[in-house]
Amino acid sequence: MFEELNQIKSPITRMIMAGAAAGSIVTCGAAVALGITNAKPESAAYKTAVYAALVATGGGALAGLAASGSKDERPAPQAAAESSIWSDWRNFVVLRKVKESEEITSFYLAPEDGQAIPSFLPGQFLTIKLEIPGQARPIIRTYSLSDDLSDSTNQQYRLSIKREPMPAGSDLPPGVASNFMHDTVQVGTIIPAKPPSGKFFIDPQKTLPAVLISNGVGITPMISMAKACSRLNPNRLIWFVHGARDGRFHAFRDEVSAIAQQNSSLRVHFRYSRPKPEDASHYHSTGYVDAELIERQIRPEVAQSGSAEAEYFLCGSPAFLQAMRDGLKAAGIPDEQVFFESFGGAKVASSIAEPQAAPQNGTGAEIVFAKSGQTLNWQPGDGTILEFAEANDLNPDYSCRQGICLTCMCNLEAGEVEYQTPPVGEPNEGAVLICISKPKSSRVVLDL
Ligand SMILES: Cc1cc2nc3c(=O)[nH]c(=O)nc-3n(C[C@H](O)[C@H](O)[C@H](O)COP(=O)(O)OP(=O)(O)OC[C@H]3O[C@@H](n4cnc5c(N)ncnc54)[C@H](O)[C@@H]3O)c2cc1C
Ligand code: FES
Repeated sequence: MFEELNQIKSPITRMIMAGAAAGSIVTCGAAVALGITNAKPESAAYKTAVYAALVATGGGALAGLAASGSKDERPAPQAAAESSIWSDWRNFVVLRKVKESEEITSFYLAPEDGQAIPSFLPGQFLTIKLEIPGQARPIIRTYSLSDDLSDSTNQQYRLSIKREPMPAGSDLPPGVASNFMHDTVQVGTIIPAKPPSGKFFIDPQKTLPAVLISNGVGITPMISMAKACSRLNPNRLIWFVHGARDGRFHAFRDEVSAIAQQNSSLRVHFRYSRPKPEDASHYHSTGYVDAELIERQIRPEVAQSGSAEAEYFLCGSPAFLQAMRDGLKAAGIPDEQVFFESFGGAKVASSIAEPQAAPQNGTGAEIVFAKSGQTLNWQPGDGTILEFAEANDLNPDYSCRQGICLTCMCNLEAGEVEYQTPPVGEPNEGAVLICISKPKSSRVVLDL
């Protein structure tokens, strides 16, 4: 019954219903007690019962009203994502492959078993596993869900993937998974995926204006957010600010413009860093999306809308994110109003990892990789446990290498680890994320 009360959106209705429910429960209980004891109307027991019913009614009403205070809280990701529908890997078939820009292609995935798929919170991602010829083991990568799963008939997930070229001026190989997706994956290819997950999401039901800021392929979760808000709460003011090099590299331009045409609460600002003459009517300003654009143009528009505050959602390259976060902070926007997700490629994340500090004992640590039957000596400078394992020819699964996706999670059987940065994903009880951790105790035993 209390869960049902929680479903009532209007605080007044919930207050009345909660008061009535609490009052009825206590009145019924009191009536039974009075009946059993055969109490007289003028007796103390009778008066106590009446007062108890009144107090319960008032208390219930107050509790019902208090529950309305949680309306603007972010929902629990797992509950809303219904991810219990499957727990490990589930096969998906590629139904469509659509080129969105010079670099980005979308893949529409439907479950091979033909059963329902759970919805997800706008901004969450899917983790996929690819068997790539020439790779010693499956490659696991994480991709944001780039569409809104608008109704139960739309049983497809959409991933939109940027082809990662080799870094300019280097002889490093191009991105393994993204190039395989672009070049080899076709309609009909089977791709195993884990359930939607992630803590970077918007709550469409909130009333506070939201500013979605992205560059490049960072647009993917923003489309999902903009569509979900337009569908579920079209009065919510949303600014969609996106940066691209020029029209050829601008994915989803028409799709986003179409949502804005149907929903006047969605305001779009496209900024091109190197526009071509043919782009003339398709962008709003020239340069990079930066904090100055937000401060000079978007915040005054938010203020004009009558709201002193907004939520800011950021997604894009690590450099873009860092600059935006620093800029928003300098502009006085509190951290609690800024949410972000970094797409930093798996190998990039690894190569820019901070040097590791020594464990508390200062002399290194013994790490027992229980499943592999290896006991190895970790020294400060050996990096994260994941990097150390790889350097010793162990091949743990990983994807983001940033503590987001949980792919590297493994059970800690003994000892302690410490995190280089706080994990974004929540590891299970007794498990740790080895991509961002290092030993804290002198002996660590991992189920790996
Ligand atoms: C939560 C989340 C959501 C994401 N959503 C999306 C999305 O919607 N769309 C999207 O396109 N991507 C997304 N990503 C990024 C995606 O997961 C992959 O990281 C990306 O596709 C690159 O993977 P890859 O296998 O192609 O490249 P990798 O093989 O991992 O290489 C990454 C880059 O490093 C370079 N490189 C190769 N070897 C080295 C080396 N030894 N040292 C340094 N650099 C090297 C490669 O040339 C490449 O440029 C997301 C990431 C996260 C964490
Ligand atoms: S690899 Fe993603 S959390 Fe560790």
